Amino acid sequence: MSNIWKKKPVEAFEADMKKSELKRVLGKWGLTSIGVGAVIGAGIFVMTGLGAKEYAGPALALSFVIAGIGCAFAALCYAEFASFLPVEGSAYAYSYATMGELFAWVIGWDLILEYAMASSAVAVGWSGYVGKFLHLFDIRFPIWLMNDYNTALDKIADATQKGKLAELATYYSDLSFPSLFGINFSINLPAFLIIWVVTAILIKGIKEAASTNNLMVILKVAVVLFIIIVGGQHINIANWTPFIPEPTTYTDPQGNSHAAYGWFGILAGASYIFFAYIGFDTVSTSAGEAKNPQKDVPFGIIMSLVVCTVLYILVALVLTGMVNYKDIDITAPISSAFGDLGLNYAVFIISIAAIAGLTSVLIVMLLGQSRIFYAISKDGLLPYKTFGELHPKFKTPYKASLLTGLAVSLVAAFTPIDSISKMVNIGTLLAFAMVCGAVWLMRKREPTRPRPFKTPFINIIAPLGILFNIGMMLTLGLENWIRLLVWLALGAAVYFLYGRKHSRLNKV
Ligand code: ALA
Repeated sequence: MSNIWKKKPVEAFEADMKKSELKRVLGKWGLTSIGVGAVIGAGIFVMTGLGAKEYAGPALALSFVIAGIGCAFAALCYAEFASFLPVEGSAYAYSYATMGELFAWVIGWDLILEYAMASSAVAVGWSGYVGKFLHLFDIRFPIWLMNDYNTALDKIADATQKGKLAELATYYSDLSFPSLFGINFSINLPAFLIIWVVTAILIKGIKEAASTNNLMVILKVAVVLFIIIVGGQHINIANWTPFIPEPTTYTDPQGNSHAAYGWFGILAGASYIFFAYIGFDTVSTSAGEAKNPQKDVPFGIIMSLVVCTVLYILVALVLTGMVNYKDIDITAPISSAFGDLGLNYAVFIISIAAIAGLTSVLIVMLLGQSRIFYAISKDGLLPYKTFGELHPKFKTPYKASLLTGLAVSLVAAFTPIDSISKMVNIGTLLAFAMVCGAVWLMRKREPTRPRPFKTPFINIIAPLGILFNIGMMLTLGLENWIRLLVWLALGAAVYFLYGRKHSRLNKV
């Protein structure tokens, strides 16, 4: 049994990296651009809506501060790891070097939640903005083609409750559902399709994707600044009062309720919009392509987090200032806020930027997932033939991409965005807490190993990182804990039935 604790020596990682055929082309701003490209997405363009409406009210900006602090602790720890172990595989690799194979597997398995499942949530957000955009040109589809069933029911119930059913009927061409074997059927078709488009791009190779990434990041940041500056002129201070609404129970249109507002609501809001920050760690998965990974990867991780935190806090303030939190649209909150003011040109600009911006998140996330599968399968913990083998012509891990695309597109087609994102959040928070623990442990175990970037005050930052991230996990409710445990149990089964027997490390 002892071999499950076996650690992959840092030197073995270094040897693997030397064999890598990836070109070292990325500088510190290129890496920052990858981070910002992965981070700004559905979290800010979509989840701010539900975060304010159902959890924090105008104090959502404070939720962004709290989640940002939790991420900053984790980012500093990621940066230290990335500086002395600049390899593909990110947190998976770090824990393989420090805590042994079983922990590494748990983290790798957990990262599937972060990268693959997050892509499902982003695709659902993408679909919401596509719907808004098409609506500008009066192009409408039935509700059952644009939403999963639960979300569609929620929208109908919400509109009925507010006496706005006629308005909803102008948004969709049909509000009824077809029946399949006696069961009402509804599918988020745009979300399903965009995953396949991105999967095809990734299989063909990412050269085009990488060059468009910078362009998309510039567009995305420019539009976020536009939202802050133009939206800032339409703030109605009355919408901020009270800034922290009295704690109460929020009941959604379908009758489900949960605790909301007050300080608990701010914390619960933080764990919900934590999703918006996910992705800065993808900078570390690009270490193999960095010109000067030891210095530039920590820079990219920290800088992308700083840029996004500032933008997020301002957007949250603007959104809750423009619209009363009780009336925020949860599908495409930002463009709706401008639409309600009759600023259709802004809806046009924001929708295009959101659609392009969310596509870039999908590219980076699905690419990150294929890199992680690749790294795990090279170590033998997943079948290399399925997860690592490269396409004979395109030289990309096409089977891993196809399998990922299949799973991710099905989840996106049939699951509400908030269920997906909470599952992603709980998994990622666990990964962040484990990275903080691993970096702390490594400092104690190998204090003299050269570290081009050192997390300052490690004995404070690492435990605070663990505390903040676990604290946010605690507000995510029993059902998400159960989902996480089931996911981890499934992972344990795969490891003990396959990985342990095929591990390359255990063969030497
Ligand atoms: N942070 C990324 C987003 O918000 C995953 O879409």
